Amino acid sequence: MRVFTRVLACLAIGSAFAAIQLTPSHAGGPSVRDEDGKFFDKTDEPTYNVKEDGTVDWYTYSGFRRYHSECHVCHGPDGEGSSYAPALKESLKTISYPDFLQIVAAGRETVSAGQVSKMPALGNNRSVTCFLDDIYIYLKARSDEAIPRGRPLKRADKPETATKNEKECM
Ligand code: HEC
Repeated sequence: MRVFTRVLACLAIGSAFAAIQLTPSHAGGPSVRDEDGKFFDKTDEPTYNVKEDGTVDWYTYSGFRRYHSECHVCHGPDGEGSSYAPALKESLKTISYPDFLQIVAAGRETVSAGQVSKMPALGNNRSVTCFLDDIYIYLKARSDEAIPRGRPLKRADKPETATKNEKECM
């Protein structure tokens, strides 16, 4: 009888632990709507989708690539930040989607103790503006710790809408 109780206790602890581990990458995440492979949250803002086996939606993957070609020189790999520019993985915990779009398009400059910290205005750079949702979605996934550091290993196929929008935008 005692052994049986102990086994039950172990099972309970084991499954509680499994549940904790699974939470960050659990299917569904905060996305509530899917429009041809692009996901939206309950406030209708773009978001990521990570399946239980780690497969990310196309936009998260595309955002990973675009972030690392356009932002990473200053903001560090994987949104982790550098001595030069803030960790966007942290910034997205407080910066809203509209503010994010605005800061990237218009830039921002902060002067503190005589030191100038300058985010360039990238609103005229199509390699940025055509993929700004992708970059936001990727950083949101990093910010929520829904994906680990590094290149996503598995991704969804590129949706037709993404190919069409990219052609029109570029
Ligand atoms: C030339 C360097 C540089 C590049 C390239 C760059 N940034 Fe920045 N960015 C900065 C600096 C420096 C700041 C801090 C500005 C300040 O202190 O006001 C910043 C600030 C930001 C902020 C505000 C963060 C916060 O916590 O307030 C966002 C959002 C941002 N950048 C997004 C991007 C994105 C997205 C890209 C790529 C498309 C990018 N940046 C490319 C240098 C850069």
